[in-house]
Amino acid sequence: MGAPTPSAGRLANALVRENELVSGEIYRILLEAPELAQALHEGQFVNVSVGGEAKQLTRIPLSFTQVDEQEGTVELVYALIGPGTRQLSRVEKGETLSVLGPLGNGWNLSAPLHRVLLVSGGTGTAPIIAAAMALAKMGVDADVVVGARSSDLLWGIDALEAKVQGEVIAATDDGSAGEKGFASEPALALLAKHDYDLVLVCGPEPLMKVVSAKAISLGIACQVSLERTMACGFGACSTCAVKTVHAMKGACMDGPVFDASEVIFP
Ligand code: FES
Repeated sequence: MGAPTPSAGRLANALVRENELVSGEIYRILLEAPELAQALHEGQFVNVSVGGEAKQLTRIPLSFTQVDEQEGTVELVYALIGPGTRQLSRVEKGETLSVLGPLGNGWNLSAPLHRVLLVSGGTGTAPIIAAAMALAKMGVDADVVVGARSSDLLWGIDALEAKVQGEVIAATDDGSAGEKGFASEPALALLAKHDYDLVLVCGPEPLMKVVSAKAISLGIACQVSLERTMACGFGACSTCAVKTVHAMKGACMDGPVFDASEVIFP
């Protein structure tokens, strides 16, 4: 990776307004953090410190789904995937968390857009919801495919249906909700059906690889948001390496959003 550039992230103490189970192992936490709410751009992330034992002091990178600039709140969604997120799930309303952000680059929605395809899997749904909300505000049509292993891990459908101007399709590996199969299947069907200006994908790498390859073959711009272990979030630890056609890059500073044509997927 190249020399790190200064991070735009700032440390803030955020008041926890809500911290609740949404579905299966998925939690939603609502933070009161007015300056962060003003600064966050869709697709960026924050690093949250949850304290606890010294070995858990590493911050947890979390994507936001929505901000309310007037209320000064930021909504984050996380899955229980380790001791840090389990500790976070025990944080109660009224407590204060140290949050570093905004971090990363976020989605690039600056081109003239008419119709966008959004595809997510697992916790990748958080930045996809953020993009969907931004596109809805911009008046851009968007179709969204949300995938999960099973119905208890599927979330975000109601929020998306309430906002997006387009189809919202759920897919589960086991068929317990929505279409049976991987999110890539309805995504490829939509790519064959509509003319898109842009495709955004966040989720498991096989999903990003398949959908981005199809988009690129059709000449459609495609951005992927890569999930990596991110120990620092500001270019200091090299835990977030991404193999690209140019060089190794860091997901925390050069991403997490990359032009899909630049990324070498395994
Ligand atoms: S360099 Fe530390 S998370 Fe990217």
